[in-house]
Amino acid sequence: MSNNAEAFEHWIRTSFVQMNTALEELYFAQDDRSRVTGVGDSTKSALRDEGHTYVAALRAEGNTGEGFDSAFGVLGNVGMYLGALRRHELTNPAREERSPFPEASSLAVHCGASLGMAPRFATAHLTVHNRARVGLRKSFTSLKDESLFIDENTRGILSLQRAADALTAIVHLGVSSPAADVMLEAAKQSLGQVIQANGRLAASLDVERFFYCVRPYYKPYRVGRQEYRGANAGDFSGINELDLLLGLCRANDPYYGQLLVDKMLFMLPGDQVRLKECMTRRSLLDELLELLPGYAASEWFQRNARAFLEVCELFGRSAAQHHDELVKRFIEQPAAKLGEEQSQGLTASGPPLPVLLRSLEVLRDLRVAADRRDIATRHDDLARLRAALRRA
Ligand code: HEM
Repeated sequence: MSNNAEAFEHWIRTSFVQMNTALEELYFAQDDRSRVTGVGDSTKSALRDEGHTYVAALRAEGNTGEGFDSAFGVLGNVGMYLGALRRHELTNPAREERSPFPEASSLAVHCGASLGMAPRFATAHLTVHNRARVGLRKSFTSLKDESLFIDENTRGILSLQRAADALTAIVHLGVSSPAADVMLEAAKQSLGQVIQANGRLAASLDVERFFYCVRPYYKPYRVGRQEYRGANAGDFSGINELDLLLGLCRANDPYYGQLLVDKMLFMLPGDQVRLKECMTRRSLLDELLELLPGYAASEWFQRNARAFLEVCELFGRSAAQHHDELVKRFIEQPAAKLGEEQSQGLTASGPPLPVLLRSLEVLRDLRVAADRRDIATRHDDLARLRAALRRA
């Protein structure tokens, strides 16, 4: 890492956190916690101006060929800086045609283009590629609810990635392999850990702190002329590898296929490769259904189909939990208390909340294979497989 990059990194890990935290405490102490404009103006100016010094030095330095980690780190830092400026209303895409921060935009575009990623901070910057230094990883604030959110999101993502790795191993074994049991068991264990992480969030995250002090850093913002949607915990390939390998979602479904296209540049380059490769595979469900007519009575079919259905059950449970406990409790319910104007720009992806919620509901129902006739769920196929199982 160059000296300029290290100086910026140090600032992001120290003064930046202190200033954001001080501002959050000011906003949160008000009767109207959503009021940002006109509050803490001197701190906001310091944050903007101090950050600008580092950004200008890095932009002048250009691409110093320090490799992936360095460019990825700078992209995350300039992205966190722009995300904080958006959060503190020093920029707002709704009232501007281009970002008022041209140097930060240029730096972000340069790094993003060289990495093959969107020119903004991504989920990976705060989760699975958020390197701890003596026990402390990066965050916007030092609020305990933000730490809880980042750490449980990271655990959830890591566990979903591990479940996806396990299913990928079965692609190479074939779903009829006697050895597939080890990997189906590994997937079940990992999904159990996702459910635990979701449960800890639901139980311990403070609704008001999350809604007013954590979530606003994930709003969309402009880089140059273009507006980029915010980061969300789904921006990694593992979740979609699970969808596709289990067979619950299909890449040729126009809704789901578009979702994959839209999220591609928000993922790490390695994840982009994994996702593209996964899109060419046949799902384990389709493999089992093809074997069902001739081999349903076989020992291996019974064992592997049963374990496969248990994996689907756990995956569906984690998806339902995300929607029914996390999205509802931490976004939908607090948003219902706000006026229309304050609800704007609330979501990470940008569309109005009711639109986003409907689309997340479709995803949940695909993942739980709900009995819906208006979308292509695998309800009937899973029922067919279940019916072929002997009573244990
Ligand atoms: C308080 C906790 C959480 C809340 C309130 C929440 C809320 C949301 C919302 C609102 C979206 C839609 C994106 C947008 O805002 O535009 C989303 C997407 C997503 N989140 Fe979460 N989330 C939480 C935690 C998690 C965790 C722990 C995971 C697991 C790793 C996760 C996985 C996903 C995935 C995979 C998506 C993309 C859509 C999908 O494929 O289902 N989320 N989340």
